[in-house]
Amino acid sequence: MSTNPNKALWEKGDFTQLAQAMRGSGDGLVESLGVTSGMKVLDLGSGDGTTAVPEAQRGADVLAVDIASNLVAAGNARARELGLANLTFQEGDASDLSDLDDDSFDLVVSIFGAMFAPRPYDVAKEMVRVTRPGGRIVMGNWIPGDPTLVAQILTIVTKYTPPPPEDFVSPMTWGVEEEVVERFTAAGVPRENISFEPDTYVFAYDGTASEYLDIFRNYYGPTMNAYEAAAANGREDELHAELDALFNEQASESNGVTTIPATFARVTVEVPVER
Ligand SMILES: C[S@@+](CC[C@H](N)C(=O)[O-])C[C@H]1O[C@@H](n2cnc3c(N)ncnc32)[C@H](O)[C@@H]1O
Repeated sequence: MSTNPNKALWEKGDFTQLAQAMRGSGDGLVESLGVTSGMKVLDLGSGDGTTAVPEAQRGADVLAVDIASNLVAAGNARARELGLANLTFQEGDASDLSDLDDDSFDLVVSIFGAMFAPRPYDVAKEMVRVTRPGGRIVMGNWIPGDPTLVAQILTIVTKYTPPPPEDFVSPMTWGVEEEVVERFTAAGVPRENISFEPDTYVFAYDGTASEYLDIFRNYYGPTMNAYEAAAANGREDELHAELDALFNEQASESNGVTTIPATFARVTVEVPVER
């Protein structure tokens, strides 16, 4: 087991299991980014390629970077199976991309990825550094306190897990506009080049809402930890009942497929030509 808690958290589970329900929205999101053939794209916190695969399928030259070695392996297996020679996954940390050169990418994409890295100011600085002048950064970030699925999972699991260390900065702060603006302006981007817009991601799972919760329970590091902590305090059933109610409230089902929409912040940063 890794001694880096950020890496250990994501290697603990198997995000590929959840990602099965994210492919459609991932493809739609990439469609909206105007990815074209030959574009150099960095997909950061890529998981097994929910957005990196469609970027490569549109002809971009894609480097996918993720901290979890199991997801890097799963991503490379997907790229091979799909015959995508223009897509490579490698291990790396969004808060320190020192093995990547300055000004290397036309587009840096991070959908619910870099938000989980420690040291958010370093993350913003690194994303700006590796983007070419005139290039673009697009992040998808969950929003704290939002009434939809992912933010509510976090609100619930927080009640069952021990408090984090004092210097821990919540990933959800990437869903607060002022924080995002502060981080990118500190990295040298003018305020007017940063936009922050609500958008919707739809999970589409081939099964019931309660079965999709079981996937979170068994394969998603943050929820696995919450179940373990709750079990240690004899509160596992209570946690499960809260999450099960949440998943079922948020879901609609049609032809055996459960869909759950979730609101996120789409952050777009135009990296200035002069910096
Ligand atoms: C919620 S998943 C999203 C994965 C993918 N972007 C998607 O949309 O399916 C978060 C991803 O961020 C990765 N991650 C977490 N901390 C990271 C870090 N410091 N640097 C790079 N990746 C990180 C995790 O390993 C995981 O694959």
